[in-house]
Amino acid sequence: MKPINVGLLGIGTVGGGTFTVLKRNEEEITRRAGRPIRITAVADKNLELAKSIVGSGVRLTDDAFSIVTDPEIDIVVELIGGYGVAKELVLKAIENGKHVVTANKALLAVHGNEIFAAAQKKGVMVAFEAAVAGGIPIIKALREGLSANRIQWLAGIINGTTNFILSEMRDKGLPFADVLKEAQRLGYAEADPTFDIEGVDAAHKATLMASIAFGVPIQFDKAYVEGITKLDAADIKYAEQLGYRIKLLGIARRRPQGIELRVHPTLIPAKRLIANVEGAMNAVLVQGDAVGATLYYGKGAGAEPTASAVIADLVDVTRLHTSDPEHRVPHLAFQPDQITDVPMLPIEEVETSYYLRLRVLDRPGVLADITRILADQSISIDAMLQREPEEGESQTDIIILTHLTIEKNMDTAIAKIENLDSVTGKVTRLRLENL
Ligand code: HSE
Repeated sequence: MKPINVGLLGIGTVGGGTFTVLKRNEEEITRRAGRPIRITAVADKNLELAKSIVGSGVRLTDDAFSIVTDPEIDIVVELIGGYGVAKELVLKAIENGKHVVTANKALLAVHGNEIFAAAQKKGVMVAFEAAVAGGIPIIKALREGLSANRIQWLAGIINGTTNFILSEMRDKGLPFADVLKEAQRLGYAEADPTFDIEGVDAAHKATLMASIAFGVPIQFDKAYVEGITKLDAADIKYAEQLGYRIKLLGIARRRPQGIELRVHPTLIPAKRLIANVEGAMNAVLVQGDAVGATLYYGKGAGAEPTASAVIADLVDVTRLHTSDPEHRVPHLAFQPDQITDVPMLPIEEVETSYYLRLRVLDRPGVLADITRILADQSISIDAMLQREPEEGESQTDIIILTHLTIEKNMDTAIAKIENLDSVTGKVTRLRLENL
């Protein structure tokens, strides 16, 4: 059996893991793929490091373009990341008739439509299981396993760094900044963790899942993105007292008016399975009309979990690369000419429940004023908690949970509440999903 030749671009953590797992499970992977999968060329800026990982028998270069144009290479694995040179390399590989396997969510969330169109035109595959939730086969599940369903919504904990931080904030009652430092010390968070903590990484992943779930173009620019940097440990505690956990969720939901695509800290009932996903683990909950709720759980990052997804794609491409491109699974689950441009709803049109924390003067009529404002916006209260003021304290916190409402109604209510003399400071607003 002639091996299929793979060229690897970037041999960091995931590249190293891909080597290790391909080697360790070579016999079984070959039995599954039908022929050996061989990494024959590796490009990396750090040739010393690359050499220590790959050993002999593999062509090493610091010129990634020499791999994407190499006639011997069948599949290019792009593990460089980012939207700069990675985009050029992926497009060049496609132009040269190579199939591409990538873990690069940022690239696909921002330039995916262009990349998939180029691949379609050339009749090559661009596989990206590793781009969303690391080792969890969520792309496979959404694109193939659930293809009978009209998918109604999905919600995922799809960033391990932030989930680790939130778990630690809850367990230890520590502020965000302290836990972030600890996460960096332990190697969970990058030296520059901006994409993780600001929700951008989760939004890249949610954008890709939304496209596959609903058959819409990839539209990262329409996603609402809010990270966890402003989250106060006090809200985690109050949420817990009311029976909720706070998670950074990526949510995509189909509504009659369009599609909601949003990432933000979210209260979810503590009794839900997904609320109990702790530490750096990932989980995605998908609701289909036929199957009901399904939950996918596993490691969303790391050398071997991500390699597991990269190699699954390599096996898929190896099995299918001689097949008629028309008969392959479409990149975005729906046939390319069936992808429809349903409106993506702005955050003001999103429908959700809310958690509000207000700092108020402890005097008669305060609550009545607040509830009147909410009622005027047709916002119904679900639960309420007032912290008993300390001895001699003239202010206290009121926590309100609401039923479903439209975000713009809540914006109006909050503006009016903040104008009350009895309310001191800004209202803290978090969204709540019962899932
Ligand atoms: N930085 C990501 C996370 C992993 O923390 O989950 C890669 O997407």
